[in-house]
Amino acid sequence: MRNLQEKPLVQGEPLQNFPDTRYMGSKRKLLPELHKIFDQLDFTTALDAFSGTSSVGYLLKSMGKSVDSNDYLRFNYYTAKAIIENSKYKLSPDEVAEIIRFNPDKDNFIEKEFSDLYYTKLECRWLDSAMANIQFITNPYKKAIALSALCRACIKKRPRGIFTYTGMRYDDGRKDLKIELADHFAEAVRMLNNSVIKTGETGKAYNQDIMTFKKTNYDLIYLDPPYFSLKSDNEYSRRYHFLEGLVSYWDHVEINRSTKTKKFDRPESLFTSKNTIVTAFEELFDRFEKSTLVLSYSSNCYPDASTLKSLIKNSGREVELVKIDYVYSVGTHSHKKDNQSNKVKEYVFLGI
Ligand SMILES: C[S@@+](CC[C@H](N)C(=O)[O-])C[C@H]1O[C@@H](n2cnc3c(N)ncnc32)[C@H](O)[C@@H]1O
Repeated sequence: MRNLQEKPLVQGEPLQNFPDTRYMGSKRKLLPELHKIFDQLDFTTALDAFSGTSSVGYLLKSMGKSVDSNDYLRFNYYTAKAIIENSKYKLSPDEVAEIIRFNPDKDNFIEKEFSDLYYTKLECRWLDSAMANIQFITNPYKKAIALSALCRACIKKRPRGIFTYTGMRYDDGRKDLKIELADHFAEAVRMLNNSVIKTGETGKAYNQDIMTFKKTNYDLIYLDPPYFSLKSDNEYSRRYHFLEGLVSYWDHVEINRSTKTKKFDRPESLFTSKNTIVTAFEELFDRFEKSTLVLSYSSNCYPDASTLKSLIKNSGREVELVKIDYVYSVGTHSHKKDNQSNKVKEYVFLGI
């Protein structure tokens, strides 16, 4: 494989700007490995089909590719809109100050519904105010930066970065937990602003279920679906429902009031059940029949490597498997960092 240095990214090494995150399944740490793989392939247009934090879309954009991005969770879509689709707009210090300042005319939905579930009453009040101020931003890209930064601030300020439990029981005294939400927000804007790059290519962010995604004429699609295992739940909205509600002020989701966490009912996904996941892969490989496939998956997940290889072959492609040593350390498993069972191989399947 070629060395990273051989083919520099557009505008130097912008990957260093990419905001670090705790998002479950984020590929940020694997970007150098993925770069080596993408660098061997001949393509101009690409779709990051399960974009999450947009880390891989950002790598592809930095390589000078025309890249679209898609995730069915809206808060991830805003990150893609902010740094994949957007090549120009940043939030100014004055605009950041406008968002942070307390707005007495704000609504009080978050304070009323969520006080002391994930944040204190005062913090919830500040989130109500920030959301009220963000509604005044008319430029869609600046608004996307603001919403993405607010979500990142919420993740940083939350023990373990997830919303599957209430209260602060995992507060380990980490520095991030002592920093004010407003300061986290300002820092997140700084990082996102730094990530806005112009490459000469255009791309678009989408917020759709990939199983019904209409545009299919990409040279390459990168697939990083939720990894399915019988041992743990791979459903993203359960972990991040608060962020998903936040970005529309709970306008596009309905809180299920029988739940202690005040989450909403999980969206339909073929990737969350053993009975449907093989069909999901088959349908996806067929839907993007003209595209080169790059699929991330894990050695300890279902289906296994030989099944995935057969599925890719059955879709009319030649298959190659690249194995990467990787220890994951996010989401519900971060407390088990040294546990040998976390030493899985990260698989990258190429279907050409
Ligand atoms: C493993 S994560 C992707 C991580 C991403 N590559 C990164 O580096 O941050 C999987 C993503 O797929 C999204 N997702 C799950 N089912 C989906 C579906 N049916 N259509 C589109 N996105 C989906 C989830 O919201 C989640 O963000």
